[in-house]
Amino acid sequence: MYEFFLFLHLTAISIWLGSVLTIAIMLLTMRQQIANRDIKSLAQKAIRTFNRIMYPSSFLVLVSGIVMIVKLGKDSARPFWLEYMQDAGAMTILVSIILSGIWGKKVIKRINQGNDKHAESSISKFSSGLLVSLLFILSVVFMAAFKFN
Ligand code: HEM
Repeated sequence: MYEFFLFLHLTAISIWLGSVLTIAIMLLTMRQQIANRDIKSLAQKAIRTFNRIMYPSSFLVLVSGIVMIVKLGKDSARPFWLEYMQDAGAMTILVSIILSGIWGKKVIKRINQGNDKHAESSISKFSSGLLVSLLFILSVVFMAAFKFN
C-alpha cells in the first residue's frame, strides 16, 4: 500500500511540474501577441485549464505525502531531506494553490480589460511567479535525489 501512495505521489508531481513548465512557456510565448483576439481567448483558456490540472495534482502530492508520513510512524527518525520535503514541499503546494488561483483570475481579468500593455505585464509577472514555484518544486526533488541527512 505504501508503494501505491509513493506511485501516486510521483505521478502527481510529474503532472504538476509538467503543467507549470508548459503554461509558463506558453504564456511567455503568447505575451507579445496579446493584442490578437484569438491569442487573448487562448491565453485565458490555457490559464483556466492549467488551474484545473494544478489544483488536483498538487493536492494529491500533499495528501499522498501525508499518508506516507503517517504510515512511516512517529517513532522512525526522519532524515533532513524528508523533513525538508514535508515542510518546504507542503508550503510550496499551499502557496502555489492560493497564489495561482488569485493571480490566475487577475491575469484573465486584465486580458479582458483590453489594455494590452497591462495584460502583457500581468502575464509576465504570473509566468515569473510560476517559474519561481518551479524552482521550489525542483529544490525538493533535488533534496530527494541527494538524500542529505
Ligand atoms: C514540492 C512537493 C514535493 C515533491 C517535489 C516531492 C518529491 C518526492 C520524491 C521525488 C520522492 C521519492 C524519493 C525517493 O523515494 O527516493 C518523494 C517521496 C516521499 N515524499 Fe515527497 N515530495 C513533495 C511533497 C511532499 C510532502 C508535502 C510530503 C509530506 C507531507 C511528502 C512526503 C514524502 C514521503 C513520506 C516520501 C517517501 C519517502 C521514502 O519512502 O523514503 N512529500 N517525494
